[in-house]
Amino acid sequence: MEELLQKIESFKSEIKNAIATTSEEAEAFRIKYLGTKGLVKEVMGEMKNVATDKRREFGQVLNEFKLFAEEKFETLKAGSASAQTETGDGLDLSLPGDALPLGSRHPISLVRNQIVSIFQRLGFAVAEGPEIEDDWHNFTALNLPENHPARDMQDTFYISQNPDWLLRTHTSSVQVREMEKGKLPIRIICPGRVYRNETISARAHCFFHQVEGLYIAENVSFADLKQTLYFFVQEMFGKDFKLRFRPSYFPFTEPSAEMDISCLICGGSGCNVCKHTGWVEILGCGMVHPNLLENCGIDSNKYTGFAFGMGIERITMLKYQIKDLRLFSENDVRFLKQFTAAV
Ligand code: DAH
Repeated sequence: MEELLQKIESFKSEIKNAIATTSEEAEAFRIKYLGTKGLVKEVMGEMKNVATDKRREFGQVLNEFKLFAEEKFETLKAGSASAQTETGDGLDLSLPGDALPLGSRHPISLVRNQIVSIFQRLGFAVAEGPEIEDDWHNFTALNLPENHPARDMQDTFYISQNPDWLLRTHTSSVQVREMEKGKLPIRIICPGRVYRNETISARAHCFFHQVEGLYIAENVSFADLKQTLYFFVQEMFGKDFKLRFRPSYFPFTEPSAEMDISCLICGGSGCNVCKHTGWVEILGCGMVHPNLLENCGIDSNKYTGFAFGMGIERITMLKYQIKDLRLFSENDVRFLKQFTAAV
């Protein structure tokens, strides 16, 4: 009996490794193991030589063996059928492979790239700075000294205090770093991630993305600022909207303004997105405050400049009519894959 069991085991491992690429090969397997003169039958014939008290046990082993061979045959038959072409047998190596799912760029990256390329056409170069900043570059050099009330609008995450290190609240810190280099004229845009200590909602998050712009040279005027931004919004949103500049306040610019466009979602008649005003704010801007130039060692009698800053999320939401900011960081593929074909 021991010998018989060993024989069955070795047949089983043969069966396990058997392969068939054509239906003929699968049939050959059937004949070899399951045919009338096949090995399963042959082993079953040995039953008569097994001692009576062991027959029950042996019967079970035989049954399992038979089932094992039958199952394998079914698998081989199905596998060989799908490997064959309709016209002939054998593998058709010209059949297409399995399609791999394609990834896509994140909408924030798409819009950032678009903003960058619009300004690059106007001669702006890309500059970058660290996300962990010191107090000087994020606040003080930007005319926001300690205890300035405007700091409250940009509550942030402090990494250490005295000396203060923090997660930058805006990309305006990169302006300072570029001005400190002292190479004039400056014409840069600075895309990057920024952080604020805000409660997460459909309109606010503890991090988001901005693009800062800075142009410093001799005789730069507010007219240059307006024309540059006018060109930008037309390239970004087309020509089918109204535009307005509203006087505003930023410590780093004087005069300062905010730029609004008529709401692209309701066409200006009023909806939730524009808070029923018909207008949506898209960026802050102004003429660089002379204090900033002096803070960075630039002669404010000789040079003037303009700066602007915008949130990439805001622009993306308007462009694609997305109503909830949280969608950008949830990474739900159903949302992300809608941008596969976008430019
Ligand atoms: N830093 C401002 C913010 O985060 C945006 C901004 C406004 C940047 C006016 C500028 C500017 O450069 O001139 O709210």
